[in-house]
Parts: sequence; structure tokens; C-alpha cells
Amino acid sequence: MDQNLNHAIELLKADDVVGIPTETVYGLAGRIDSEKALQKIFATKRRPFFDPLIVHVSTIEMAKSLVSTWPAYADKLAITFWPGPLTIVLPKNGKVSDLITSGLDSVGIRMPNHPLALKLIEQCGPLAAPSANLFTKTSPTKASHVIDEFQNSVTVVDGGDCEVGIESTVIGLFENEIKIYRPGMIDKAKIASIVGPAIKVNYSSSPVAPGQIKHHYMPRRPLVLCEVGQSLPDEFTNKKIALWKVGTDPTLVARNLYAKMRECDANGEIIVFEVIKEFYLSESWTGIRNRLEKAASVDLISISL
Ligand code: TXA
Ligand code: MG
Repeated sequence: MDQNLNHAIELLKADDVVGIPTETVYGLAGRIDSEKALQKIFATKRRPFFDPLIVHVSTIEMAKSLVSTWPAYADKLAITFWPGPLTIVLPKNGKVSDLITSGLDSVGIRMPNHPLALKLIEQCGPLAAPSANLFTKTSPTKASHVIDEFQNSVTVVDGGDCEVGIESTVIGLFENEIKIYRPGMIDKAKIASIVGPAIKVNYSSSPVAPGQIKHHYMPRRPLVLCEVGQSLPDEFTNKKIALWKVGTDPTLVARNLYAKMRECDANGEIIVFEVIKEFYLSESWTGIRNRLEKAASVDLISISL
């Protein structure tokens, strides 16, 4: 096995934290049975304890071992979308500490679609991992982003660039309803098509506060979100603009989104992301739109709608 991976396994077994690749974004991982590692995740990210962590598993059985109920339709979702960018929130059992769930009686679980993450989980057991960035900042999609973010203080397993690029869709499962707490690249229509008409799928605000935080995913420089050709507010004239013409294919847009935010943050006084409204407002862009609305300092699209 790769030396870097062996070193990461040793660190995790010794109650430390490690930056791990997933298909969505890089995570900052620790074993769920290590209070020390869990504390270190919050401290390293400067994350408040009211924001719960997602638990990462390598099998469906492992997921079932952490919850007190598992509705029949959860099997359909797990078989279809795992490993992949879908986090399922269900009532937890005693194996999951309150530190992970911020005192909630439910836990978010997902199986990441990355061979190195799955190997680490097989060797160390379930891993709690939030995105590997400082609280409210832009999530990392390359190993170098994690190294920069924590100024080289965290060991990172380099698994290449993240394929999906934005965080998983987070859903709460109830008897006859699925609540989408955080939209992602697995969208409402895909979820509904798997569970069938007996289960309603609705957007819902999260039972925890962070989903409501407006300035999540924010770069340091002001980010202006606008339509192609739209003129910028006067306060931005004479500023050096770093422009990204956001494309039309949501898969590629999501994959490049956070790297573009970081790149533009470094290259201009203001960041301008130009979108094409017909694409931007469509259903398959819901996850991307959610991240952009939270990252933008000035959102000319929402203003003009
Ligand atoms: O793609 C992802 O989900 C990435 C990778 C590393 O797996 N992880 C990630 O974690 O984005 P994080 O901590 O940045 O965001 C997790 C969010 C929390 O902020 C919270 O909104 C929601 O998931 N969450 C976690 N547990 C929950 C629960 N029990 N009930 C409701 N929402 C929960
Ligand atoms: Mg995060």
C-alpha cells in the first residue's frame, strides 16, 4: 500500500486528523470513536460545536450499524447513489457521540466515491469528516487547497482533483417524506425517481443553523454574481476584475467552481462570475446556485428576478 496512505492510517489510529480526498470536496477526517480526534477537527477548522459532522462509511452495513431506524426506501437510495454524493440523515444510535451530531438525535451518513477514502474507512472504521476548510470559507477540491488552508499543519492524502466539486446533497428521511436540507448534484428529480410517488421530496431548511448562514463558502474578495453583459455597480469601476464566464454544463461548473473562486480571489480586487440565466435557473443547477448565492457579496441575478 502507498506510503502516504499507510502514514494516514497510522495517524488516524493514533487519534489524529487527516485530510482525505472524496469525490465532492476534501474532508478533514477523524475516527468516530476518538473523542480526541473529533475535538481536533472542530479546533482545526475553528468550527462551532453546533454544526454537526457527516460520518463516512465504506459499506451499507456500516451505515446501518450507526442508526436506530433504516426505512426500506433507504436501501433503494443507498444502492442507487452510494458510493456517491448523497448524505442520508437518520435517527442515530449509541455508537454516534453527541459531539458528532451537535446534540441532535440524528446523524448524517454517506459513502464517498473515492478509492483512497474507502480504503481508509476499511482500515480505521467510520470517519467523521467535514469539508477541510476554515469555518464558512471555500471548500477545498485539491490537496494543495487543504495544505494552504491549514498552513501545512495537516497531513493530506492526495487523491487528485475532486470530480464532483461541491458538497454532497444532504437529505433527512422520514416515514412518507424526504427533506432536502442542502442541495447538491444529486437533485430532487433524481431522488424522487428512485423512491417513487409514495414518498414526497421537499426542500426544507436544515434543523441546524449553518445551512442558514449567508456568508458560507465565501472568498476573501467581493464576489459579484451577474448575467452576461450586465453592468456592474459604480463602486466596482476601476477595480481589477478577475472574471469567470460560468459555463453551461452543470457537471463541469460544479467541478471547477471552488478552484475558480480561489484562483480569482488571488488574481483580482473583485471576482465576477458571469452566468447565463436560462441555465443558471434550471433544476439541475440548484446545488450550484445555493453555493453561489451564499458566496456572493453582490447577487445581481437575485436582485433582478
Ligand atoms: O460532500 C460532503 O458532504 C463533504 C465531504 C467531506 O464528505 N462534507 C461536508 O461536511 O460538506 P460539512 O461538515 O462541511 O457539512 C455538513 C453539513 C452540516 O453543516 C449540516 O448542515 C449537515 O451537513 N448535517 C450533518 N449532520 C446533520 C444532521 N444530523 N441533521 C441535519 N443536517 C446535518
Ligand atoms: Mg463545509
